Amino acid sequence: MMLIIAGLHLGYSRERTDLVAMATPIDFAVYKPVSHYVVNLVDPQMAPEDIRPSVMRGFHILLETKKSLPQYADCAVSCVDCHFGGGNTLGETNGGISLVGAAKRYPVRGKDGKMMTLADRINGCFMRSMNGVALPTDSQPMQDMVAFVTWISSVVDKVEDAPWLGLKPLASRHVPNIQHGREIYINYCSMCHGKFGEGQKREFNLDYPPLWGKHSFNDGAGMCQLQRCASFVFYNMPRESPILSETDALDVAAFVTTRYRPHYASPESQENNRAPVGTPNR
Ligand code: HEC
Ligand code: HEC
Repeated sequence: MMLIIAGLHLGYSRERTDLVAMATPIDFAVYKPVSHYVVNLVDPQMAPEDIRPSVMRGFHILLETKKSLPQYADCAVSCVDCHFGGGNTLGETNGGISLVGAAKRYPVRGKDGKMMTLADRINGCFMRSMNGVALPTDSQPMQDMVAFVTWISSVVDKVEDAPWLGLKPLASRHVPNIQHGREIYINYCSMCHGKFGEGQKREFNLDYPPLWGKHSFNDGAGMCQLQRCASFVFYNMPRESPILSETDALDVAAFVTTRYRPHYASPESQENNRAPVGTPNR
């Protein structure tokens, strides 16, 4: 009896991925992230009264980025598509890229020697991951996102206490094979992200975000780096059961990161193109 159950379970997670994905809208709440760390996360709704409205507005921007700030985000991806739950997780399996404790890292000296604040780092994701433009750091929406990340970070004292931050590099030294990555993509990813990486709109659930093409993150994004993308996929994708080996994750990441996508434009060239606030769809 035990053997039969074990066999069924394996068959389910290996082969039925596509069937499950296509047949029913998935309730993502069922797929609780798996983490080895024990930390009590804080609910945005539990923020002290004086900052709660700002924290909640910030949370909402992370959930619906393009809808909230169309003039700054030129893509169909939202922060939560990479930072699951707005980053209010402890990373690892299916937790996406955590932001819990991230506020304690900033300000930090960047590679260019300049000090980088949390707002500057968020703008880094706006210009690359969102293929958009930087927000004025003193604007209300930026203050709100900073308030949200700072509130969920309040559960740790210093960034060293948050080892779950950042995508963990994979141990494999495998040289990626793009052709094999394409096969993995068709078998394990295309049912949600689309045959051409275009994603899918869904009515009552999170959209499936695009992975390449003109509505995706640009070529300057962290997700466009082979190692980061492979690590993200290894720990988080396919969404309902991340079952790829490191080798397969590297292959599919090599395929995804070499597809066509928007080109990153430097802040200087963006400065000249910046749309006035309130202009929809830059
Ligand atoms: C396409 C995926 C993607 C999207 C969308 C995205 N990010 Fe990120 N973000 C990343 C990656 C990759 C990193 C770097 C992770 C690492 O260090 O390994 C990162 C890092 C960050 C960090 C720094 C974390 C730290 O540990 O210091 C912040 C803050 C952040 N993102 C905020 C945001 C916000 C706010 C949005 C929405 C406006 C957003 N991101 C959208 C992929 C994304
Ligand atoms: C069951 C549907 C499903 C499958 C299958 C799936 N994904 Fe995803 N993927 C999602 C959803 C939904 C998100 C948005 C994040 C979330 O779930 O909160 C996402 C987010 C992503 C992201 C970050 C956001 C972005 O736009 O870049 C990447 C990269 C990604 N998936 C790659 C893959 C790869 C590669 C595969 C195949 C190995 C795969 N996914 C299979 C549903 C799926």
